Amino acid sequence: MFRSERLQPTVHQLIGFDCGIATLNHWLLHASAQEAAKRVANTFVWVPSDSTEVVAHYALRGHVLARDSAPSRIGRGVSDPIPAALMAKFALSNKLHGQGFGGQLLRDALERVVRSSLSGLAVRVIIVDDVAASFYRRYGFHDAPTVPNRLLLRFDEAAKALGLTD
Ligand SMILES: CC(C)(COP(=O)(O)OP(=O)(O)OC[C@H]1O[C@@H](n2cnc3c(N)ncnc32)[C@H](O)[C@@H]1OP(=O)(O)O)[C@@H](O)C(=O)NCCC(=O)NCCS
Repeated sequence: MFRSERLQPTVHQLIGFDCGIATLNHWLLHASAQEAAKRVANTFVWVPSDSTEVVAHYALRGHVLARDSAPSRIGRGVSDPIPAALMAKFALSNKLHGQGFGGQLLRDALERVVRSSLSGLAVRVIIVDDVAASFYRRYGFHDAPTVPNRLLLRFDEAAKALGLTD
């Protein structure tokens, strides 16, 4: 139903996207193209099979975690800092909310992380509010002890949840 592909600002239609959070809408329209060009992050979008209208997006980048900002289930026994991936700008069009697509978008993003050549122990997400936090907790993300707007999921837990093995 939707294609998941890397953002191509000259191909994909960004105008009109509305996920209900102004900062995320603004980022897609005004900053995503520049970030893609500078390779600040890899941004992926969903478009319908017969259109170039963006209906969802998320950004992935390499990352490190300070060990004292990670729960012991992630930080125990590994050197500091901990290699990780960062997922940000995760949003779905208002038109698609409440139909299970958010869960599918998260699966798509985690599958890219787990299947990528990035070595890492954990996926960190940046969350915009408590409502978003409860969405990620449903999928097994844990709170980071010292950083309030970040949640973490271990790569191996993500792979297990996705049914992926190395
Ligand atoms: C967060 C978001 C992606 C969820 O998308 P969605 O399509 O509405 O979610 P789904 O229909 O796939 O729901 C998946 C599950 O999460 C639950 N859920 C959905 N939104 C939720 C929320 N905001 N808080 C808590 N749980 C939520 C659903 O009840 C569902 O659970 P179930 O399978 O037990 O029924 C979407 O609301 C969105 O884009 N919001 C604006 C941007 C945003 O908040 N991004 C978060 C990152 S900062």
